[in-house]
Amino acid sequence: MTLLVKGGRVINPAAQQDEICDILVEDGKIKAVGNHLDETGAEVFDASGLVVAPGFIDMHVHLRQPGQSAKETVATGTRAAAAGGITRVATMPNTNPVIDKSIIVEGMKYKAEHEGVVKVEIVGAISKGLKGQELAAMGAMAKAGVAAFSDDGRYVEDCDFMRKAMEYASMFHKVIIDHCEEQALVAGGNMHEGIVSNELGLKGRPAVAEDIAVARDILLAEATHTPVHIAHISTKNAVDMVRRAKAKGIRVTAEATPQHMILTDEALRGYDTRFKVNPPLRSDDHRQAVVDGLKDGTIDAIVTDHAPHEWEEKDEEFNVAPSGFVGLETSIGAVLTYLYHTGVVDLMTIIRAYTTGPAKILNLPAGVIAPGKDADLTLIDLDKEWVVDSDAFYSKGKSSPFDDMIFKGKPAATIVDGVVVMKNGEVLR
Ligand code: DOR
Repeated sequence: MTLLVKGGRVINPAAQQDEICDILVEDGKIKAVGNHLDETGAEVFDASGLVVAPGFIDMHVHLRQPGQSAKETVATGTRAAAAGGITRVATMPNTNPVIDKSIIVEGMKYKAEHEGVVKVEIVGAISKGLKGQELAAMGAMAKAGVAAFSDDGRYVEDCDFMRKAMEYASMFHKVIIDHCEEQALVAGGNMHEGIVSNELGLKGRPAVAEDIAVARDILLAEATHTPVHIAHISTKNAVDMVRRAKAKGIRVTAEATPQHMILTDEALRGYDTRFKVNPPLRSDDHRQAVVDGLKDGTIDAIVTDHAPHEWEEKDEEFNVAPSGFVGLETSIGAVLTYLYHTGVVDLMTIIRAYTTGPAKILNLPAGVIAPGKDADLTLIDLDKEWVVDSDAFYSKGKSSPFDDMIFKGKPAATIVDGVVVMKNGEVLR
């Protein structure tokens, strides 16, 4: 099958390319990029007025399988991804059972192949049962094809254990993704520790908990010469430490979420559980520092930490409700509205953080528009205005901190292996 994506504004960070041209796709692969391409026999997708980018990758998503299909499934989560313009996700292992054995990885791969509307990478656990005590079967999981390892949701406390995990993972050319919050400092806390938590009378999770965790990981990366990736970075010290470590040549990378770059702890004043997340939404100085980190390349990837929960669970009192909320269907719109259209971050930087950034961290042959590559493309209408309506989400999770907001900028189509899986907001599979 041949598809011609015609007349779009191709923004391809790997080649520093930003120009109007056509992309010819044959049998799922990009065949040519240029003008006046021969379209004989091709289905034509008119992309005029749209940005055409390499397929967006979200390397931090919770598809909740195995075992938590009331919250999300591979089928519903990947449809949400397609709706959100995301062509590939990496799903986290804090499931039930935990993804800590090759047989579970294989099961998930099978599911992803048969039920996934977009591509799915599996992240294996670092420790058995996420308990931080015994290494999970990392070698066997690497062989089964995991993209990385993480105990996401929990910080890997034990320094010696973390050192061994980093060294072991690097033998398989995999990165460790760490959820950086020192446990003793955040115990019992439900929001960022600061003026707002004091006024609300809620116990906080201090920024220094993240700072200490990130500092430890950077020091271990330096000592072991192995890579580490900081999940959902959210504090100014953490961003600054990553910046300085990178300048020293230490192998550290970092990701940030739209929520930590756009929202602050002020949103918590109504005790609204839609804004409860770990690490928590912080004060504006931290938010600003994360945005600065994206601008100067300290932050490599934009991720959602898409964390669906059942409505009944979130509809609880603040201290009881689980942390996390969905993000796949709002990620691009939120970033374009609050970071691009406000003139804060340029489009090339944003698209890089959704494409080449995560592809490099996970060692994926993706995130690039070039002949021979998989035809994964994200098409965006930069100026489309729309109102976020969580009831209309493809995700099972309906709790979103962006609900009812007016966004400017929306994914117009999602193409995976040359197949249009979403057009104008409608998932076609
Ligand atoms: O708020 C969060 N929820 N943060 C995490 O790191 C995990 C996630 C979840 O799995 O619900």
